[in-house]
Amino acid sequence: MTTTSTPTTTAITHIAQLVTNDPSLGEGPLGLIQDAAVVIDGDRIAWVGASSKAPATDNAVDAGGRAGIPGFVDSHSHLVFAGDRTAEFNARMSGRAYSAGGIRTTVAATRAATDDALHANVARYLAEALRQGTTTQETKSGYGLTVEDEARALRIAAEHTDEVTFLGAHIVSPDYADDPAGYVDLVTGPMLDACAPYARWVDVFCEKGAFDGDQARAVLTAGKARGLVPRVHANQLGHGPGVQLAVELGAASADHCTHLSAADIDALAHSETVATLLPGAEFSTRAQWPDARPLLDAGATVALSTDCNPGSSFTSSMPFCIALAVRDMGMTPDEAVWSATAGGARALRRTDVGRIAPGARADLALLDAPSHVHLAYRPGVPLVSAVWHKGVRV
Ligand code: NIG
Ligand code: FE
Repeated sequence: MTTTSTPTTTAITHIAQLVTNDPSLGEGPLGLIQDAAVVIDGDRIAWVGASSKAPATDNAVDAGGRAGIPGFVDSHSHLVFAGDRTAEFNARMSGRAYSAGGIRTTVAATRAATDDALHANVARYLAEALRQGTTTQETKSGYGLTVEDEARALRIAAEHTDEVTFLGAHIVSPDYADDPAGYVDLVTGPMLDACAPYARWVDVFCEKGAFDGDQARAVLTAGKARGLVPRVHANQLGHGPGVQLAVELGAASADHCTHLSAADIDALAHSETVATLLPGAEFSTRAQWPDARPLLDAGATVALSTDCNPGSSFTSSMPFCIALAVRDMGMTPDEAVWSATAGGARALRRTDVGRIAPGARADLALLDAPSHVHLAYRPGVPLVSAVWHKGVRV
């Protein structure tokens, strides 16, 4: 006998203050509604408004005066890895500088890991992020650096998330240490052929010690020709061509953006390329903070993401990133919450997530706090107390 389940409707009522990110639904750029209700129908949001006007539903959940926000959209992470880089972190906290070379340690451990171990790691960090309110998670390859290992990483990632990025050009593979041009040929040829079917995006680490502007252009152009949309690790460790290249090639986002010239800021502000800031990286590498203020003042779209990876930023916590961005990167709490939700959605070119409005995916979090501002005001406190993902309470 087969049974079919009809979607049921659920109303979440008495949300003290709701961030919708839809200015047509409420006050200001965050579309704030006081004493709000949200109706979920299946995996979608069906209705949003004042609690007193909520329609009748099959089920009801009283939010009890807690604040509500859209689920976080974390548009940049590196979750397919094995091993540990505690020693490197310890050395940095004793004064050593971060260098891209540490990536090789994770490449060796990842190549040696079984598929099951990699699956378990991805599942563990996704679950950790979900508990902290992240309902959309991008993740990348980049710790395999052979045709087989990169394809394996993407195959595994694609079983856990739709937002998968091919980062074969993370560093030049140690196997090609004496032949970087040969490695770029591999990435743009057989590796791309094997990886493109699993990925939506193509990324490159455009930085001294990784890939220069010409190499990065070759990788992104080849990816585009295979239907992948570019995103770029740009201007993390110093000034360089990454941001300009991202804008020129119509990348969805330029990520890191720590060292920007006036021309870089201007280029981002006059483009569709989102500036994705990753404060966990500066925290964990004790580096200069990116400055969100000039970007925002120039009119650029800013996203916040974790960059979760074992080397430069081992955090899956979007609330932590919001707190850092407010304290140290010139963002207001409202701007930081927008960037961690709607901003991430823009960076992934998604309109179904990052907002709470009729038709959007039913992804939202309740906070043990009267407003979203507490995410920055009460740093380090686990305020996320309930999460709905695709309409299901997790
Ligand atoms: O985004 N910068 C390049 N890639 C990662 C770091 C990877 C690592 O150190 O393992 C990042 O910070
Ligand atoms: Fe990264």
